[in-house]
Amino acid sequence: MATNAPEKKQHSLEVIEKLNKQVANWSVLYMKLHHFHWYVKGPHFFTLHEKFEELYNEATLILDEVAERVLTLGGKPVSTLKDQLSLASIREAKGGESADEMIKQLTDDLLQLAAESKELAETADDAGDAPTADMLVGRQEWIEKTVWMLKAYQET
Ligand SMILES: [Fe+2]
Repeated sequence: MATNAPEKKQHSLEVIEKLNKQVANWSVLYMKLHHFHWYVKGPHFFTLHEKFEELYNEATLILDEVAERVLTLGGKPVSTLKDQLSLASIREAKGGESADEMIKQLTDDLLQLAAESKELAETADDAGDAPTADMLVGRQEWIEKTVWMLKAYQET
């Protein structure tokens, strides 16, 4: 309907903006996972070193998919480390985290990404952008499963 057009346009811009925040977050998380992969220490080194690698490989796939969705929608994915850091809600690794702290931080980061992604899927739905909503919902399952595994790991 013509009367809804300006509102839809506003929603579309909001979708691009929120997708870009996801690009920033997955970029920060990608580097943070490398940090954890390189610096994890202790009795679970071999398990965690490998798990963090598996996770950063998945993070880069998601990052690329989201960034290319931004391009498809006519936006510009945030693509410098400086801009990504300032836009992201995920904080980068500080250094000196214990293995337990790494897992805890990662769980919190993924929960935050899941919440932001869910909200973004709703915005995309409101904008009539089903492909963006579907893409996010498709990724949600992996994020939730990973959170479940990380929580199971932390149980004693
Ligand atoms: Fe490696």
